[in-house]
Amino acid sequence: MATVRLRAEDIRARKGGVPLVCLTAYDTPMAKRVDPHCDLVLVGDSLAMVVYGLETTRGVTLDIMIAHGQAVMRGTERSCVVIDLPHGSYETSPGQGVASARRVFEETGCQAVKLEGGEEMAETVAAIVAAGVPVLGHIGLLPQKAESRGGFKIQGKDDEGAQQVYRDAAAIEAAGAFAIVIEGTVEQVAREVTLRSGVPMIGIGASPACDGQILVTQDMVGLFSDFTPKFVKRYVDAGALIEQAVGMYADEVRGGQFPGLEHCFGVPKTKG
Ligand code: KIV
Repeated sequence: MATVRLRAEDIRARKGGVPLVCLTAYDTPMAKRVDPHCDLVLVGDSLAMVVYGLETTRGVTLDIMIAHGQAVMRGTERSCVVIDLPHGSYETSPGQGVASARRVFEETGCQAVKLEGGEEMAETVAAIVAAGVPVLGHIGLLPQKAESRGGFKIQGKDDEGAQQVYRDAAAIEAAGAFAIVIEGTVEQVAREVTLRSGVPMIGIGASPACDGQILVTQDMVGLFSDFTPKFVKRYVDAGALIEQAVGMYADEVRGGQFPGLEHCFGVPKTKG
């Protein structure tokens, strides 16, 4: 029987239920590994840092996000795939947001797009949803805006900050987002906003009370170790395993043990 892919509305219906499992993927092989375990797979603009070696999430284009989105769609069959609108592709006007979201949606066949921002982005979210493209919101710490806001700062630290987070969540929900990522926010504020909101809140550096959790897969499996935020739990050190395998290969090539004749063509099989 063919696998049924989760859609944005299925994710929305999970508010308050079994926590949503969400991870990032940027290519087909990783997508195939995470898809059987996830409800939602994000093609995040974090790929700028963990794949392209850039210092911030800025610097990836819509074309790059579309190419990686197509690769992830080829590697998934059950997860709801969401693709980030990159910095510079949606902030100028709702019309710009709609044009970018439509391109991503039509050229990849993904289930939804994500964009960063609270109250100030509500009109754009509403316009994209009205154009038929489901939107995952992203509030709290906004990596695309970290540079202009003095760095990666935890949000909701004082009453004014907490009220802003509540207003942002309410505005993005009212604009029609099917769920909202809340990143880098004081635990009690993330907990409260999860209680108040009618759509799933997906936490990263937020609260166990959120309706789901998301991590960058490369962080979680040890494939990106330039820096590790407090909210990351490393389940395996795949980077160390790869280095170990590469070291073994290098030793065998230099020592003449690889390739063996069993890796070569036209070599008669030895009897015995
Ligand atoms: O780009 C990304 O990977 C993200 C997650 C951190 C939520 O936005």
